[in-house]
Amino acid sequence: MSRLSDMPAPFVYVTRRFADSGITALKAKGYRVEIYPENKAIPRKELLKNVKGCDALLSLLTDRIDAEVFDAAGPSLKVIANYAVGFDNVDLDAARQRNIIVTNTPSEKVNEAVAEHTFALMIALARRIPEADIFTKAKKYTGWSPTRFLGTNLSGKTLGIIGAGRIGSSAARRGVKGFDMKLVYSDVRRSPEIETELGATRVSMKKLLEISDFVSLHIPLLPATRHLISTDEFSLMKKTAFLINTARGPIVDEKALLRALRTKRIAGAALDVFECEPTIDCDVTDTLELKRFSNVILTPHIASATMEAREAMSMVAAENIIAALSGKPPLNPATGA
Ligand code: DGY
Repeated sequence: MSRLSDMPAPFVYVTRRFADSGITALKAKGYRVEIYPENKAIPRKELLKNVKGCDALLSLLTDRIDAEVFDAAGPSLKVIANYAVGFDNVDLDAARQRNIIVTNTPSEKVNEAVAEHTFALMIALARRIPEADIFTKAKKYTGWSPTRFLGTNLSGKTLGIIGAGRIGSSAARRGVKGFDMKLVYSDVRRSPEIETELGATRVSMKKLLEISDFVSLHIPLLPATRHLISTDEFSLMKKTAFLINTARGPIVDEKALLRALRTKRIAGAALDVFECEPTIDCDVTDTLELKRFSNVILTPHIASATMEAREAMSMVAAENIIAALSGKPPLNPATGA
């Protein structure tokens, strides 16, 4: 009969190096941890080769985790810990069929980081910070003018939050408590907390689009939310309204967004995520239409990129692996429900 100490240590494969705390915790459990050594997304071929025999896979949102990966890993694979809140890169059905647990990394630090980035974008849009920065650095500031870079106050404006989950609520709180904004939200579920705490009103998405000055997206990418914001939705928005997307790119139909910007249907947009990420505006020719608009701000999927959030994500991913490999229920199952 084999003793427990004779059993090989569980093997955890990590597709990219990131914040240390989780890796340290996995090693402290005695697991064999292998990390893809290069600072780039792991090429598919390497992924398929390296996962062979792993018990747990710590993946990133840039890795497509599907049946082919599960088959390459083999029957030892018990858990996918996706280092992100979103998990649209993982084929949940294929995982379910093989009884592989999938987890994500929600955390208060991530909520804070994404909510703060949402407001960084919102203020930058409203106060035209990137344009003013370029202007000033180009030494064009030769004297004060009462009309230069006129923007718009956030205070008193209506913030429309689409998706009042953890991150959406965190952004909502900042809007109401930090910037004195009025709050409406739309969600499949009611959120009694933000209604009581922030005086929020739940409205239909149509109504939200009609009355909001700032529309901020905080929903997961699901078949039902792909192109949720398209031509019809832009046509409902105020001409003075701004759209902010820190959720997932394909929720916004980028072609429709470009049309809305060209025709001045809306006042501007800030995007941290892109429909054909990492390609911007799904354009492979390098002309980058979105970049032509001074009322568009683009950041490269960095809403959760703070040291605090990354460390928290690292620990949460590790805790989920430890729970799953110890036969305990995962702390953050990604069910897609
Ligand atoms: C997430 O957590 O889903 C972010 O998009 C990446 O950190």
